[in-house]
Amino acid sequence: MATTEALFNPHLEAVAGHFARALEAAAFDGALIPSGEPPMQFADDQPYPFKANPRYRQWVPEASPGCLLAVEPGRRPLLLFRQEADYWHMPPSIPDAPWTRAYDLRIVSDASEARAALPTGRRWALLGEPAPAWDGLGEANPAAVTAPLDYGRAAKTPYEVECLARASLAGARAHRAAERAWRDGASEFAIHLEYCRAAGAREEDLPYNSIVACNEHGAVLHYQHLDRQAPAARRSFLIDAGAPYAGYGSDITRTYAAGPGPFADLVAAVDGVQRRLASLVAPGRDYRDIHLEAHRLIGGVLADCGLSRVRDDDAVDAGVTRAFFPHGIGHLLGLQVHDVGGLMADDTGALRPRPEGHPFLRLTRDLAEGFVVTIEPGVYFIDLLLAAARADRRAALIDWDRVEALRPCGGVRIEDNVVALAGGPRNLTREAFAAT
Ligand code: GLY
Ligand code: MN
Ligand code: MN
Repeated sequence: MATTEALFNPHLEAVAGHFARALEAAAFDGALIPSGEPPMQFADDQPYPFKANPRYRQWVPEASPGCLLAVEPGRRPLLLFRQEADYWHMPPSIPDAPWTRAYDLRIVSDASEARAALPTGRRWALLGEPAPAWDGLGEANPAAVTAPLDYGRAAKTPYEVECLARASLAGARAHRAAERAWRDGASEFAIHLEYCRAAGAREEDLPYNSIVACNEHGAVLHYQHLDRQAPAARRSFLIDAGAPYAGYGSDITRTYAAGPGPFADLVAAVDGVQRRLASLVAPGRDYRDIHLEAHRLIGGVLADCGLSRVRDDDAVDAGVTRAFFPHGIGHLLGLQVHDVGGLMADDTGALRPRPEGHPFLRLTRDLAEGFVVTIEPGVYFIDLLLAAARADRRAALIDWDRVEALRPCGGVRIEDNVVALAGGPRNLTREAFAAT
């Protein structure tokens, strides 16, 4: 596997180029990018977990609070690294990894020292969450700068793809451990702990809250609880969980049946659809077409599994697929699990519409070389949606006995992370599972 070190400097050059173009077009001299500060809990002296500004993380692989990056086209970036005198907490150690050589790295103990270290007479764009520490330094998040940056972030550099590949490896390893724990009869809570252990991550380091869902809980799209009690019967298991690497995160879902039978058949059918859709990820492809194709293919699965009396386009047109597959087929992935810019028509910030009747699709762009997207079809037994289908013309098109038989298994989702490349898609998730 390529080292991230060798890939980092070309990555930095590409990012610096994006920033230079965006800043120059909007007549800014440079950008100030704070790493961020963890917010405090209401009426308390405890902070929430620190989540670094993703714009900072695109430049700096290791993030700690209170730092300020100053970027000016044509100059070495200045990293004002906060190491405060604090005997309550352990100050962050000064980074000395190879990436630091690309920076003018200076240690500051607080925001006023950072402000004093900045070159003067510049028109700065301040790119991050506004905070009193940086008041008055520049214009906060001007759209003329953020729109082209967000638009450009969809195409990942080889360094970013490598970070995502490593995040996928850690995720696949942890998914294997979670599956073993489930098969051994663990509770959702115990599976979650095992997942974190195997991922080498504490909970707050994960790219998003893991969905660890046994049986019916698989029907809750963003199921957020962790039962302490193992379920009395072990029928099915859906886990949607990622892992971090240098600020990038994987986003992986797998679903398991306890044994052979109709639910296992449904899992296999959705897996087949997932592979087919992943093979469509290519530069030039309108991602909306992948979403619409997902509906058609799921229309086939519903008929094959005896859930629907109509199939393919007929199932889509009748609204049957919507009752079982109510979310988008996926999204951009990168520094944020739902990475920015998914709905942009161009770099001005104009929006590209979703297909009518598909309000939850998060990505409407034509894919280009280096885009990393998720492909995550699903079939769920969601009471709310099934009740609506039962109350309208779809009632006669659905086999309700079949639904009742599968409802205790919750639902199926299979989610991979896929890179669009001219030579054919690279499936980071399948690659990672094959290597673990
Ligand atoms: N884990 C959130 C998602 O799949 O989009
Ligand atoms: Mn996802
Ligand atoms: Mn997911």
